[in-house]
Amino acid sequence: MRLKTSTLFAAVALAAASGLAAAQTIKIGIMTTYSGPGAAQGDQLDKGFKLYLKLNGSKLPPGVKVEPIFRDDTGANPDAAKRLAQELIVREKVQFLTGFVWTPNAMAIAPLTAEAKVPYISANAAGVSLPRISPYVARVSFTLWQSSYPLGQWAAKKFKRAYTVVSDFAPGHEAEEAFTKGFKDGGGEIVGSARTPMTATDFIPYMQRVKDAKPEAIFAFNPAGKQATAQMKAYADLDLHKAGIKYIGTGDITTDEELQNMGDAALGVITVHHYSAAADRPANKAFVAAYKKEYGEKLNPGFMAVGAWDAMDLIFHVIREQKGKIDPDRTMQLIKNYKNPNSPRGPIQIDPDTRDIMQNEYLREVRKVGGQLANVELETVATQYKDPWKEFNKPK
Ligand code: PHB
Repeated sequence: MRLKTSTLFAAVALAAASGLAAAQTIKIGIMTTYSGPGAAQGDQLDKGFKLYLKLNGSKLPPGVKVEPIFRDDTGANPDAAKRLAQELIVREKVQFLTGFVWTPNAMAIAPLTAEAKVPYISANAAGVSLPRISPYVARVSFTLWQSSYPLGQWAAKKFKRAYTVVSDFAPGHEAEEAFTKGFKDGGGEIVGSARTPMTATDFIPYMQRVKDAKPEAIFAFNPAGKQATAQMKAYADLDLHKAGIKYIGTGDITTDEELQNMGDAALGVITVHHYSAAADRPANKAFVAAYKKEYGEKLNPGFMAVGAWDAMDLIFHVIREQKGKIDPDRTMQLIKNYKNPNSPRGPIQIDPDTRDIMQNEYLREVRKVGGQLANVELETVATQYKDPWKEFNKPK
C-alpha cells in the first residue's frame, strides 16, 4: 500500500511538532565467508559481529536502529565479492560496508566504495596497500608488516639462520618481505623461502624442505583457521622441534580458536600479534567471558572475532556522533579520529593519515595455563604501532 503524499506530510509534521526524531534505520552490509574452505575464518567474523550487535544493539540514539545484512562471499573470490558489494550498495542502499576475511575480496570492492561513497571498514582483510585504493576505506584489523617486521628484528637477536614459509597471496608475501627485512637488517640470514597454496592442507613437503636446510628457526604465516592446525601438525610429525628448529610466526599460526586443537606441539611457539584470548586486560576478560557465554565454554575468540567486534564498535561510534544522520564524508572524518582505549586487544586508534589501525604488538609464547594452551603475552614489542610499510613507503 502506498501512503498518500498528504498523509506522509502530516506524519512528518506531527513528528517534527512533537519533537520526535523520525525513526532511522541504518543498513550495514556485512560480507564474510560462510561456505568453502575459508568458512572457519568467516565464522569468527560472524561471531564477533553478532556478539557486538547483541550486547550493544540498543546503545544508539533514540529512534536509531541498525539493520545488519549478512552475505556469503564463499571464500577468496573477488568476483563474488564485487557482486555482493554492488547489490548491497545499489539494491539494499547500505550506508556502511564491513567484513571480509580475504584481502583479494576487499581489494576488488575498494574502488566501489569511492564511486558510491559508501565507507568500508576492513574487519580482517590485511593487504597492506588496501586503504590507499579508496579514501572511503579504513581498517581496524592489522597489516602483516605490523607483526612480521618486529618479529624479524626480535628473531635476529636469537637466531642466525631462518627459513620462511608463507601462504601464496598478498598477506603472505607481505609477511615474508617484512620478516626478511627485520631479520636481515639485524644480521640474520634467510636460508630458504617457500610459498604454499592459499588453501593448502598438506604442509609435509614444505616442512621436509625446511628440515633438510637445517635453519635455527622457521618463520611462518598461514591464513589461520584449520590451516594453522594442519601446519602445526606437519611441524610436529616431522619432529622439527627435536631437530632444533624453532617455530615462530605471526599470531595467525597459533590462532586462539584453533589452539586447543593443535596439541602440545604448539608449546613454546613464539609469535608476535595484536590479540591473545589469554590476555588479562579487564576489557579482554569481559569480552572472552561474553563470547564463551554466547558460543560455549570451550570456544576461545580468535583475532578475527575481535576485528569484527572492533569494526562494529567503530561503526556504532560514527552513527552515535552523527545522531543517525549519516554523511559519508563526515563519517570518514570521524573514523580518522576514532580511538578506543578498551578494545579486547588493548588501546587502538585509527591513524588519520593512512586510515589504518594503530595498536600494540605483543611477543607471545604458547604455554599451558590452567591445563589449556594459551598465547601468553611476554612483552609489548611495539606500542600504538603504525603500519611500518606505510612509514617506509610514504605516498609520493
Ligand atoms: C587476508 O586475506 O588479509 C588474511 C586472511 C587470513 C589471515 C590474515 C589475513 O589469517
